[in-house]
Amino acid sequence: DNPALIDTFGRVATDLRVSLTDRCNLRCTYCMPAEGLPWLPGEDVLTDEELLRLLRIAVERLGVTDIRLTGGEPMLRPGLEDLVAEITELRPRPRLSMTTNGIGLAKRAAKLAAAGLDRINVSLDTVDPETFRAITRRDRLSHVLAGLEAARAAGLDPVKVNAVLLRGVNEHEAAPLLRFCLEHGYHLRFIEQMPLDAQHGWNRGDMVTAEEILGLLRADFELTPSPSERGGAPAERWLVDGGPAEVGVIASVTRPFCAACERTRLTADGAVRSCLFSNAETDLRGLLRGGADDEAVADAWRMTMWGKLAGHEINDAGFAQPIRPMSAIGG
Ligand code: GTP
Ligand code: 5AD
Ligand code: SF4
Repeated sequence: DNPALIDTFGRVATDLRVSLTDRCNLRCTYCMPAEGLPWLPGEDVLTDEELLRLLRIAVERLGVTDIRLTGGEPMLRPGLEDLVAEITELRPRPRLSMTTNGIGLAKRAAKLAAAGLDRINVSLDTVDPETFRAITRRDRLSHVLAGLEAARAAGLDPVKVNAVLLRGVNEHEAAPLLRFCLEHGYHLRFIEQMPLDAQHGWNRGDMVTAEEILGLLRADFELTPSPSERGGAPAERWLVDGGPAEVGVIASVTRPFCAACERTRLTADGAVRSCLFSNAETDLRGLLRGGADDEAVADAWRMTMWGKLAGHEINDAGFAQPIRPMSAIGG
């Protein structure tokens, strides 16, 4: 039997995205309602011990080489620094990254780097305080900017910035955001809005497409295709004004990259998913708590990935949004 997480299309998942909590301290309008969501009850969330066991199985038995911590907001997980240290003690040592909204990062970046975190992606949709407040429903832009600075000072490299553009809200921020990231040496990627919000409010007409994003940027910058290898990465990259600086566009909807997908996902409550957009999940927490041995858990994980679909069906008639929102799946 094949030890790796392979699917029927021959893709091999070596990249594991782990949601550490479904909670968040921002309320981005494209993600969740102002009042938040019914969070997972504490007893449903994997303990550190359970989580580390699953990650050990992933690294030792399933060929996972890259682990990304996500949420909700992963920094809301108690004991995150200890978890990071323990993950980087796994062998073979996985590369470890985190995707965060940056709140509190100013104080924690150095500790996270010292614990073994390799790199970080920070969500930032605008450099204008008013627009930040309109999108996240919180007045915290300065915290995120300080977090970015601290991440770079701590040696996390690269520091990436993720920006979602919303029609009529922050489109005009595309060029200023790029200018800001070029000045500070952050790698900016624009993301097409996906139908993953808890309110099910996404609609195609409101989505700012990759084509539009490139058009907005070309008013101020010269973009040429980057010569670097894309691999399974979601971002298409462009050299800005001849390079070496680049900007990325993650066109999940209009230019899906599912055929090159290398991902497997673990939710905070211990379900493994083969795709953001599939409702098919396997409850590994139940197996762990039921006394299953490592190989039985590994087998359940392999079976789940074997069932991975060719791709998401956002562009097909009859598409139905997944039941769990992005904050519960892990971005
Ligand atoms: P690196 O390129 O390795 O730094 O990470 P990443 O871009 O995969 O991670 P990040 O968490 O920063 O995600 C950026 C955007 O890509 C988010 O909007 C994610 O939801 C989206 N994304 C991540 N994985 C997938 C995926 O498997 N499918 C789709 N469609 N989008 C994804
Ligand atoms: N579509 C696209 N990106 C999203 N993100 C959150 N919700 C959505 C969505 N519906 C982004 C966040 C973060 C990353 C993990 O995903 O802004 O940067
Ligand atoms: Fe929180 Fe991320 Fe959702 Fe914004 S997109 S509310 S930062 S989980």
